[in-house]
Amino acid sequence: MQWSLFLLLLMGQCVFITCQLYEYHFIKEQMSWDAARAYCRENYTDLAKVFDLTDMRRLQDSAQSQTEAWIGLYNITGGANRRWHWSLPGEEYTENKTCWGNTEPNDGAYPENCVMTGDKWVDAPCTHTYQFICYDETMKDNKTFHLITDKKTWTQAQNYCRQHHTDLASGLDQIYSEEFKKLQNSTALWIGLFRDSWRWSDGSNFSFRYWDMDSFNDGLNKRTCATTLLERSGRWSSAGCDQRKPFFCYDDELILIRENKTWEEALNYCRQKHHDLVSISNPEEQRSVQEGAKNASTPFVWLGLRYGCAARLWLWVTDYVVCYERWASGGRTEDCDMSAAMTTGGQHEWVSQRKNETFNFICIKH
Ligand SMILES: *[C@@H]1O[C@H](CO)[C@@H](O)[C@H](O)[C@H]1NC(C)=O
Ligand SMILES: *[C@@H]1O[C@H](CO)[C@@H](O)[C@H](O)[C@H]1NC(C)=O
Ligand SMILES: *[C@@H]1O[C@H](CO)[C@@H](O)[C@H](O)[C@H]1NC(C)=O
Ligand SMILES: *[C@@H]1O[C@H](CO)[C@@H](O)[C@H](O)[C@H]1NC(C)=O
Ligand SMILES: *[C@@H]1O[C@H](CO)[C@@H](O)[C@H](O)[C@H]1NC(C)=O
Ligand SMILES: *[C@@H]1O[C@H](CO)[C@@H](O)[C@H](O)[C@H]1NC(C)=O
Ligand SMILES: *[C@@H]1O[C@H](CO)[C@@H](O)[C@H](O)[C@H]1NC(C)=O
Ligand SMILES: *[C@@H]1O[C@H](CO)[C@@H](O)[C@H](O)[C@H]1NC(C)=O
Ligand SMILES: *[C@@H]1O[C@H](CO)[C@@H](O)[C@H](O)[C@H]1NC(C)=O
Repeated sequence: MQWSLFLLLLMGQCVFITCQLYEYHFIKEQMSWDAARAYCRENYTDLAKVFDLTDMRRLQDSAQSQTEAWIGLYNITGGANRRWHWSLPGEEYTENKTCWGNTEPNDGAYPENCVMTGDKWVDAPCTHTYQFICYDETMKDNKTFHLITDKKTWTQAQNYCRQHHTDLASGLDQIYSEEFKKLQNSTALWIGLFRDSWRWSDGSNFSFRYWDMDSFNDGLNKRTCATTLLERSGRWSSAGCDQRKPFFCYDDELILIRENKTWEEALNYCRQKHHDLVSISNPEEQRSVQEGAKNASTPFVWLGLRYGCAARLWLWVTDYVVCYERWASGGRTEDCDMSAAMTTGGQHEWVSQRKNETFNFICIKH
């Protein structure tokens, strides 16, 4: 056995690089929100979107000043534009009438944008105060849920849960769990459900909101574009979209190249113009590569995975061994001139293909 191979197997290891799916860029130049969006769309992907608090910290770290800057969130004013979201990032809302009380949700004299539960769900003004239940993903004190008997407004409750636990209890699986029901015991409680008419510029459904309650009031019309207040720990406020401010763009980490190239040509292309041909080391990465592959013009897209003839094993172009894999059954042929590709449709599984075939491919940008 060759030494290098021996060392490789010895270190042999699945290295889990938690790779970010997008990168933030701070642009100092002051522009209106619309001009800022045009700038981001031409030079990067779009105005910045924020998935959770981890993203928010990354965004702040990419700023070189302490001012107020645009992000990609804006308000669709007028009409029935409100949309329900769970407070917990990544938990998707699906309509389910059986959860709501009779005639709920129904607003009242004022808009009712937050939800409390007794027996069934009821919409209420977010400024009302109730007890609430926090969800804790770390199982603090061996408990998934923590009942907080201090009454707070919905936003205060959300802040409390994010500070001391993970978030307000969110999603049907949590709210209809036995453990939740035991704590609830028919008292009126806030749950992590809210609605608003704010949208991300790139069409994402991210539910994360980080408003600064001292300066933000969702009743103020005309201030329909969102900013981050970098001197107030990044919390968000709103401003008139015509004002000129610096801004944040985001740039996707992956890019689909809709050109037909052999595997070697694809590798060279990615290394010259971007960083490398894409590698996949976990299910999250598989998912984002799938998203990119959907728009390809060929039935397969090349991955940065080739069969190493000397070593007789599959290796990523990054030199890592394969830890996570998603081969189609019967799709793997181990031969010297083989590399791996992902199917563009169906299950997006991997199949080996001769290196001289020509397909679209996906590069990592940085
Ligand atoms: C893209 O960036 C360049 C310079 O960085 C700038 O001149 C150009 O105007 C930008 N595009 C848009 C649409 O603003
Ligand atoms: C956002 O739009 C809604 C109507 O769609 C409106 O009620 C609300 O006041 C607006 N908020 C701001 C800050 O402009
Ligand atoms: C709707 O919610 C109820 C609990 O109230 C649950 O039993 C049911 O499975 C849900 N239906 C769907 C389609 O999710
Ligand atoms: C948590 O629960 C496990 C088993 O259910 C138990 O062994 C452990 O001692 C508990 N820890 C605490 C801090 O209560
Ligand atoms: C439920 O609430 C009732 C009245 O508020 C109380 O007597 C009872 O002990 C509570 N049960 C639990 C399991 O906390
Ligand atoms: C966002 O949610 C809406 C309604 O729930 C849905 O129609 C739309 O497809 C979603 N968009 C994305 C990008 O997931
Ligand atoms: C690449 O190949 C596909 C079919 O395999 C074809 O439809 C497409 O037009 C080709 N694209 C280019 C840029 O040649
Ligand atoms: C798919 O590709 C077409 C043509 O390049 C482009 O116009 C479109 O925006 C792409 N769609 C997505 C979802 O990337
Ligand atoms: C690729 O190479 C194989 C054998 O080396 C050959 O049979 C096949 O026709 C080639 N395919 C293309 C598309 O050039």
